[in-house]
Amino acid sequence: MNPISRRQLLKTTTATLAATIIPSAVPNAVSFAQEKDKLFKLDPLPYKFDALEPHIDAKTMEIHHGKHHQAYVDNLNKQLVGTAWAGLPVESIIKELDKIPEGKRAAVRNNGGGHYNHTLFWQMMAPPGTKPEGDLLKAIEASFKDVESMLKALKEASLARFGSGWGWVVLKDGKLAIVSTPNQDNPLMEKGGGIPILGVDVWEHAYYLKYQNKRADYLDAFFKVINWKFVAELFEKAKKA
Ligand SMILES: [Fe+2]
Repeated sequence: MNPISRRQLLKTTTATLAATIIPSAVPNAVSFAQEKDKLFKLDPLPYKFDALEPHIDAKTMEIHHGKHHQAYVDNLNKQLVGTAWAGLPVESIIKELDKIPEGKRAAVRNNGGGHYNHTLFWQMMAPPGTKPEGDLLKAIEASFKDVESMLKALKEASLARFGSGWGWVVLKDGKLAIVSTPNQDNPLMEKGGGIPILGVDVWEHAYYLKYQNKRADYLDAFFKVINWKFVAELFEKAKKA
């Protein structure tokens, strides 16, 4: 097969596949080149692997980002390449999982959630140096009394999550609240589940190399590297949503 006919075949297959899956939103004549550009990508970390040492070790960061997160991105791409979802923000996809064909839904939930959660998670951490202030601090005090009480509640919920999942602080009904989700679920997947402004990954892959089975110690370490500046940005965005 020469390169031109191969490209033509891909184009035709893609159009047929997309039309079968989501007729209402199918763009016309999607070329393979355009489609490739719409694949989900793993962004580099916003800091070096060892930037969070000694709290979160470099090896864990390297494997967590380069292997685990990369796998979520790759598996999400396998599910959505050639469909009209390939160019959409992952946040829109996980908010409307009921629109994904049933045969793909579980894989998109797990891998789309994994991609979205980890993309937030990397930014929710930074070398120590930031603290909650302004409107964010006021909201924390109104909902939990103080920052320490909020983190204590987040720690309890994260420890209580059996198996793999996440602990979250969400903005819900005008107040901050603590929730936890299983697997790679995100509060946005549930209508009225709240908008996350802080989250902590409690899958063993996030801490086992350094902390083994001591999830509580990992959570204490995570609290030292919270990027409160980013949390404040998410809080401001959530208020306007
Ligand atoms: Fe993770």
